[in-house]
Amino acid sequence: MAPQHQILPRSGPEREALRKKGQFWTPEWVAKAMVAYVLKDGADTIFDPAVGTGVFFLTAKKLAEQMGRKIHLAGCELDPETLKHGKETGLEEADLQEVRIEDFLFTLSLPQASAIIANPPYIRHHRLAADYKLQLQKLAMRLMGFTLDGRAGLHIYFLLRALDLLTPDGRLAFIMPADTCEGVSAPRLWDWITRRFRLEAVVTFAPEASPFPGVDTNPVIFMIRKANPAPDFFWLRLMQPEAAALSEWIMRPFAEVQSDSLVCVKRDLKEGLAAGLSRFPVDIQPEVPVLGQFASVLRGIATGANDFFFLSRRQALELELPDEFLIPTIGRNRDVKSDRITAETMLELEKSGKPTLLFAPDDRPWDLFPPSVRRYLEKGAEGGLPHRPLLATRNPWYKMEFRKAPPLLFAYLGRRNARFIRNLAGVVPLTCLLCVYPKSEEKDYIERLWKILQHPETIQNLFRVGKSYGSGCIKVEPRALEKLPLPTHLLQDSKLESVATSPQLNLFGKNN
Ligand SMILES: C[S@@+](CC[C@H](N)C(=O)[O-])C[C@H]1O[C@@H](n2cnc3c(N)ncnc32)[C@H](O)[C@@H]1O
Repeated sequence: MAPQHQILPRSGPEREALRKKGQFWTPEWVAKAMVAYVLKDGADTIFDPAVGTGVFFLTAKKLAEQMGRKIHLAGCELDPETLKHGKETGLEEADLQEVRIEDFLFTLSLPQASAIIANPPYIRHHRLAADYKLQLQKLAMRLMGFTLDGRAGLHIYFLLRALDLLTPDGRLAFIMPADTCEGVSAPRLWDWITRRFRLEAVVTFAPEASPFPGVDTNPVIFMIRKANPAPDFFWLRLMQPEAAALSEWIMRPFAEVQSDSLVCVKRDLKEGLAAGLSRFPVDIQPEVPVLGQFASVLRGIATGANDFFFLSRRQALELELPDEFLIPTIGRNRDVKSDRITAETMLELEKSGKPTLLFAPDDRPWDLFPPSVRRYLEKGAEGGLPHRPLLATRNPWYKMEFRKAPPLLFAYLGRRNARFIRNLAGVVPLTCLLCVYPKSEEKDYIERLWKILQHPETIQNLFRVGKSYGSGCIKVEPRALEKLPLPTHLLQDSKLESVATSPQLNLFGKNN
């Protein structure tokens, strides 16, 4: 493995620079498996739309040599500096001659290709400029006839453009973050792809086998062919890092296997798409009870400027803000260390000087606020708050979102396990937590639901609805959390099932 493919800064400015350019290098053991797939039919040219330091080129050269074949290399790369590093790892000037220093997505007249391989730049949508995003939407419209959700990252557009360049029977291998098949746009995107192309294999990695250890991303390899769609596909899970088993499996005719280092099963495409391609196969149980039948879920409050609206008790006192404009709030996941928030939790946070209060003005005219509130709002206005992205959409800019204090909260992202928290202090959360409102306000109902939600079987189900990141982290959006399957036997044990369907208690009426 070439040294620069191993080195990945875990934090700091160097890592930040890589994030901006989407530069995460593929390790050679993964590149080998991907190259083996695209060269299976004897293609003589390999096209990489995001060459970087050229790991796919180098691997293709080596593999072609072993097979006694000659391989032609072509591609695109935006950053000429990274190409230079490629030469240090064994590529020659001639190997890079057909790399265009251009934006792959908007370079005109790219040739069709029979072998396309990429680790596309993983640049999340909030790092893309608004006018570039607009161009991406137009690209999606041109290629598919519909646009994708604004949160779709650059890598998804790379996949679409590459599929468009594939020649009949051509092969494509892309390593992408799992959000490609877990995000809001995923169902429509994959429905479109799998109606036009044959999804041959999806490779997933156990956290300990990740090709990018220490990076917050759960990578998945998609192997797609421009051929008639098939009703099933092979789904692989690599259990051990750097396992030769992966490229060995790819070089042979595809088949189910079960070994210590690799598990491969044939999956029904419809089932795979319904479950999410990155997720384990599950028996589809349409009748399975889900959280949405027992509770509704909302995201926490988005202040638009935590530095201004989220205050410590001391700050609020110094600013002389009256209590009627202050709401007890949890704004950081790490401030909740246990599975309960109590008055003591809030007191502890206050004592250690942490912010615990949301400054929440309503929409009354400016001059009807008490003088201290007006002074503080004036300070905010002078600091440019009315022009901040979210606040600019509010009228007036200082009117805070409202949430009733939820009896349960869900911590949805973080190094520690995702978990449900009982809110016994009447706090409202900021966006780091989700609000869970049980459909009955009875204490007993809430406690029984909470017990089910804390059960390891329920927590395990989060992987069926959430977006997975590196090292087992998971993020769940409010709508997805409402689809969380609740184990039937737990519902039965706690009698919650019968309560939920009982019309007298009107559990569905209130929040629907
Ligand atoms: C994730 S890296 C992968 C590089 C290499 N193929 C590998 O697998 O190690 C993606 C590369 O795409 C480049 N890139 C970013 N945006 C691009 C664009 N619009 N067109 C072409 N290349 C781009 C980045 O500079 C980076 O080198």
